[in-house]
This record gives sequence, structure tokens and C-alpha cells, in this order.
Amino acid sequence: MDRQLDLKNIPRHVAVIMDGNGRWAKERGQIRLQGHLAGMEALREIVRHSQRLGVEYLTVYAFSTENWKRPADEVSGIFKLVVKYVNSELKELNDNNVRVRILGDWSAVPKDSADSIRLALKTTENNDGLKFNIALNYGGRAEITRAVNKLISEGRTNVTEDDISGALYTAGMPDPDVIIRTSGENRLSNFLIWQAAYSEIVLTDVYWPDFTPEEYERCIIEYQGRDRRFGGHK
Ligand code: FPP
Repeated sequence: MDRQLDLKNIPRHVAVIMDGNGRWAKERGQIRLQGHLAGMEALREIVRHSQRLGVEYLTVYAFSTENWKRPADEVSGIFKLVVKYVNSELKELNDNNVRVRILGDWSAVPKDSADSIRLALKTTENNDGLKFNIALNYGGRAEITRAVNKLISEGRTNVTEDDISGALYTAGMPDPDVIIRTSGENRLSNFLIWQAAYSEIVLTDVYWPDFTPEEYERCIIEYQGRDRRFGGHK
């Protein structure tokens, strides 16, 4: 019998590498940006479904520090989608008590995107429902390096693991219980590399724009079937 979703064992923190937008578009003879647009629509549904399921933290990888290497029109198109997303979703997110945060150095993003981000952060800053983290101009090594430099600038000469965790963008958040990657790739690609130490990794062949709430539940069921021992044993 297929396993059923256990609503009493929903992961607190789900992280997602939203991959395959380009291939999705290519298969349809469309430009890559059409894939990112469809990906944005998939994301909207996954945010909604995370709330229904009672996920506390949802972290999505929207733009990596390496993504600047892509053609300029694709890069600017992705940042325009951030503006579009905030314009169309912010009211609903706020009405639903969602708290938006950005992980990454968003000082480098184009001005209209930065304005939208500022608005989303400010509007939702007192919300305590789903914590929705968007990794934007994010890289895990850059995040750890930044954390260490922050501690050095505070005069620290010796640091603990907790000090580093507390200086990351994710300070105060639980580590992801599960990292989902779509489109059949099986790498972490510099995503949450510190926080992923004990995360379960769930892979699906589905391209991100085709990642439905049903597929999301299937991934969570797979996670629920894993035996998490955190280095110990039963
Ligand atoms: C990876 O697919 C996807 C991205 C680099 C961009 C993700 C962006 C979105 C889902 C849209 C907007 C997000 C927000 C927060 C509004 P790929 O292009 O690497 O696909 P490929 O591997 O098939 O080429």
C-alpha cells in the first residue's frame, strides 16, 4: 500500500532547489524566461500548500551567487519576476500572516527589485505565520565566510558551531529537515551547505514548473519514510 501523508509529522523546515525551469521551457519551444514565469506560478501554489500543511519555514533558492553568469536578459528577467511576485502576492501573503525574509546579499540586486523586497520585508515584519525565506544572490560558502568575518569584526578569535549558526542568514531558525531538488539533479549547488548537515535530501525528476502540491506531498511522504538518526542509532 502506498504510504499516506502523516499530518502529525510534517517537516518544520522545508528547503527547495527550484530547478528545471529552462528545460521545461525548451521542451515547449519557449524562451527560458517563460520557464521562470511558470516557476513563479508553481512557487505561489507551494507557498499556499506549505501553509495548509503547517510547515513553519519554507526556504526557496531563487537566485544563486553563480547565476550572474547567465545572459543579462535572463538575469534581469528573473529580478523582474521578483517585482511581479511581490506585486501580485504581497497582499495575500500578509493577509495570511506570512513573514517574508531574504537570505543573501540583496544589496546587489536591481533597484526596482530591491524596492519590492524592502516593501515585502517591511509589510510582513510582524507576522508570525509561515516563515518564507527567499534565497536571492545567495551562496552557502559566501554565507559562511560572511558569518566568520562578522564574528571576527566583533573581536572574536575563537568560535563555536553555535556562534557560526547564529551569524548566518538563518540565525534563530531550525535547520532544514528536508531539502527537495527538482528536475533530476542531485547536487546541493552551494545551497544551505552549513544548515544541511543532517537534512534529508529528496529528489524528484519533475521540472520545477510542474511541481504541484501533489508532488510536494509525495516528497514529504518520502521524507517521512526516512529513518533520521542524526549520527546516533536506535
Ligand atoms: C533554476 O532553473 C531556476 C532558477 C535559477 C530561477 C528560479 C526562479 C523562479 C522560480 C522564479 C521567481 C522567483 C521568485 C522568488 C519570484 P534553471 O533555469 O537552472 O533550469 P535548467 O536547469 O532547466 O536550465
